[in-house]
Amino acid sequence: MRIYKAKDYAELSRRAANIVSAHVIIKPNCVLGLATGSSPIGIYKQLIEWYKKGDLSFAEVSTVNLDEYYGLPKSHDQSYDYFMKSNFFNHIDIDHNKINIPNGLAEDVEVECTRYNQLISSFNGVDLQLLGMGNNGHIGFNEPGRAFELGTHLVELAPTTIEANARFFKNADEVPKKALTMGIKNIMSAQKILLVVSGESKAEALKNAFQGPVTPEVPASILQLHPNVTLVADEAALSKFEI
Ligand code: F6R
Repeated sequence: MRIYKAKDYAELSRRAANIVSAHVIIKPNCVLGLATGSSPIGIYKQLIEWYKKGDLSFAEVSTVNLDEYYGLPKSHDQSYDYFMKSNFFNHIDIDHNKINIPNGLAEDVEVECTRYNQLISSFNGVDLQLLGMGNNGHIGFNEPGRAFELGTHLVELAPTTIEANARFFKNADEVPKKALTMGIKNIMSAQKILLVVSGESKAEALKNAFQGPVTPEVPASILQLHPNVTLVADEAALSKFEI
């Protein structure tokens, strides 16, 4: 694993954006696996800036997002579809037909999960999967204690995740209790993984993920077994890490 220690969130975002943009420049038709949440917002802002300067084009890029809340319409301002459009896709030249996000309103969840698994397989491993990590060590919405071998599935969100995400809603009651998420199996099939972690509240989970045993209790610990992981984290997130 390669580790970049950034002094703060701004530096973390620039460094990680550099890695994403390098992929797009080297392979203009690459497949990017994308994440939502607060961690990647700075990366998306930086990429938009470079696009607007004319340094970068996403015209041939395909994307596949990690997850989506179950039961929220796309138009809801907390749906991940809405998040991706407002924070990234609507500001760049991406072909909207090449954007993929699980359908949180699918009538038949099984059919939707199969569709998403087949889509990911058809890419033959996404070129670069961007990941954030929850305070409890989750990646995507793969919560502690879940099996490592799952593909895309419907998940009940952990109480700690609902609490953490309540900051985006009026209150915790409004946070959806379920989500569709890529499974660990899908995530591990990526050619390369870029994990971005910021803030002291994640320091313990980050240490456990890479300096503890590989265990479903810490979902991100599975990344120890991936051959090509880059971690970009700020000093606060790395404060418990023994380098
Ligand atoms: C988002 C996702 C989640 C987040 C994680 C961290 O698509 O899959 O795993 O990356 O919950 O969220 P933030 O960045 O808001 O701390």
